[in-house]
Amino acid sequence: MNGAAPVMLVTGASSGIGRAVALGAARTGAHLVLVARDGESLAEVAEECESLGAAGACVETLDIGDDAAVAGAVRRTLEREGRLDTVVNSAGVVAYGVLQAVPVDVFDGVLRTNLLGSANIARHVLPVLRAQGRGHLVLVGSVLGHIAAPGMTAYIVSKWGVRALARQLALENRDLAHVHVSCVSPGGVDTPIYETAANYLGVRGRPPAPVSTPEHVAAAIMRVLDRPRDRRQVGPANGLMRAGFTFLPGVYDALVGSLFGVAALDRTTPLARGPGNVLISLADGHSLRGSQPGPLVAMGRNVATLVGGRRRR
Ligand SMILES: NC(=O)c1ccc[n+]([C@@H]2O[C@H](COP(=O)([O-])OP(=O)(O)OC[C@H]3O[C@@H](n4cnc5c(N)ncnc54)[C@H](OP(=O)(O)O)[C@@H]3O)[C@@H](O)[C@H]2O)c1
Repeated sequence: MNGAAPVMLVTGASSGIGRAVALGAARTGAHLVLVARDGESLAEVAEECESLGAAGACVETLDIGDDAAVAGAVRRTLEREGRLDTVVNSAGVVAYGVLQAVPVDVFDGVLRTNLLGSANIARHVLPVLRAQGRGHLVLVGSVLGHIAAPGMTAYIVSKWGVRALARQLALENRDLAHVHVSCVSPGGVDTPIYETAANYLGVRGRPPAPVSTPEHVAAAIMRVLDRPRDRRQVGPANGLMRAGFTFLPGVYDALVGSLFGVAALDRTTPLARGPGNVLISLADGHSLRGSQPGPLVAMGRNVATLVGGRRRR
């Protein structure tokens, strides 16, 4: 059984934000339980965590959309470590494409991981935190859980759902002063999620400017764990996007299509349509950061492609 080191379970720990959270917590000497669907990349992260100073790092290879698998991982953690202090649910997938273009299994797959997976985690983690009388569950949402964007319906519906879920859970657990549920909502972050996303638009997505690093988001999550609060935005433009969506809906709707096309897509290279990593993990889809060019370069290339296309017509 684990001694004094806090026990943190991180989902989506093999890549992007979840990986950055795991590595950040390892540096503080936490004991980590790392969750994702691909065991090989998790084993790599576990090794890295141990070399950075983690008290321990175990791997739980599972799909968070599978409620029984989540229950098993929580049970084994308690059997091994005797407690569970913090859980960061960062597992997530994306599908690009308007509703009718995205196959039903892919649409449902996004909701299964992002929304139902968050509910599965909460269903098995909260009773443990409540029985302990302390602990913290962080659900990673998105600025897209507050606004609308064309061609991302499955993801946006899932993230509005995650925000609603976190709000409900915070309300339902406010009777215990040391049990916390938070929703952390990043803007654009340079991670592999854009490269592994399901795609039925025919062009790749990219993080819109201003782009944060996964380490920056992980640091914000660690601060929320240190000083609990129900909601936290991470991204300098989140407030502006939310204000435009809420207070100027007509202007927002008129502009968002063109802005999204230039800032949140890579129009330079056509992309084959397919389910990406929504239904199964992809062998080479795991790393701390993505491989996107900077936002100014990407927007410049998009504008050049659009202008070139018009001239050729
Ligand atoms: N990147 C951004 O711009 C951005 C912005 C706002 C919010 N977010 C949110 O931040 C979170 C992390 O995203 P990221 O950008 O770090 O993505 P990422 O680099 O693609 O990492 C996603 C992680 O989730 C795991 N995963 C996916 N489906 C899973 C499932 N069903 N069960 C268990 N694990 C699963 C992946 O590993 P396996 O494939 O091996 O399972 C991987 O470890 C997501 O919730 C995302 O929606 C991202």
